[in-house]
Amino acid sequence: MPAREVKGYSTTQIALHWAVVVLVSFQFVAHDGIEDAWRALVGERQSGAGVEPVAYLHIAAGTLILVLALARIYLRWTRGAPSPPSDEPRILQIAAEGIHGLIYLLLLLLPVSGLIAWFLVVESAAVVHEWMQTILLFAIALHVGGALFQHFVRRSDVLMRMFRPEHT
Ligand code: HEM
Ligand code: HEM
Repeated sequence: MPAREVKGYSTTQIALHWAVVVLVSFQFVAHDGIEDAWRALVGERQSGAGVEPVAYLHIAAGTLILVLALARIYLRWTRGAPSPPSDEPRILQIAAEGIHGLIYLLLLLLPVSGLIAWFLVVESAAVVHEWMQTILLFAIALHVGGALFQHFVRRSDVLMRMFRPEHT
């Protein structure tokens, strides 16, 4: 992504990053409601109890993630993002950027596939939704591993710049 040269992330970018972390964690922790509702919708279970409120929360939180991801991508294009440390091996810089790009793509496609599955009752979209969850978890594990590696092994400022806003 073409990013303007800035020294750090803004308060808004940092707030959006951590808000999305909370929302994505919620999606993975509290998914029983939407699964039950989905099985009832596609007829795998006798529906009588109706859709639990927590299922609607999954839809609301997922849609909010889509909106916040769009806001983050917009900010990244208009305001920019800090460059990787200059002494970082090129291969690690490319890996980090690639994982960021993959995470952004999944933060858009996961909600879209969920919305298509739910509102248009498309079973293949639900299968795609599940596949993408696994890929997202894998990408997040690498991402968090990379952030901790930067902080504790390379001792760079990369982790701290996702906490300390820089007004450039
Ligand atoms: C980034 C946002 C989202 C994440 C991380 C996410 C995550 C999840 C997870 C972990 C499950 C449980 C899957 C399983 O183990 O069986 C699930 C199921 C489901 N989600 Fe989402 N979801 C997101 C957005 C949405 C949205 C916006 C909708 C819109 C209606 C939606 C609809 C569904 C449906 C219908 C299911 C049940 C079918 C299935 O298991 O694939 N999701 N989601
Ligand atoms: C749901 C979990 C997470 C998601 C979806 C996520 C997503 C992202 C994305 C898309 C970026 C790129 C920001 C940009 O430049 O536009 C980013 C940056 C960053 N994230 Fe996360 N993140 C998650 C969890 C975490 C956690 C738990 C940590 C800390 C251990 C973390 C630390 C960082 C750091 C330090 C950066 C800045 C990297 C840099 O400046 O090169 N993230 N995150």
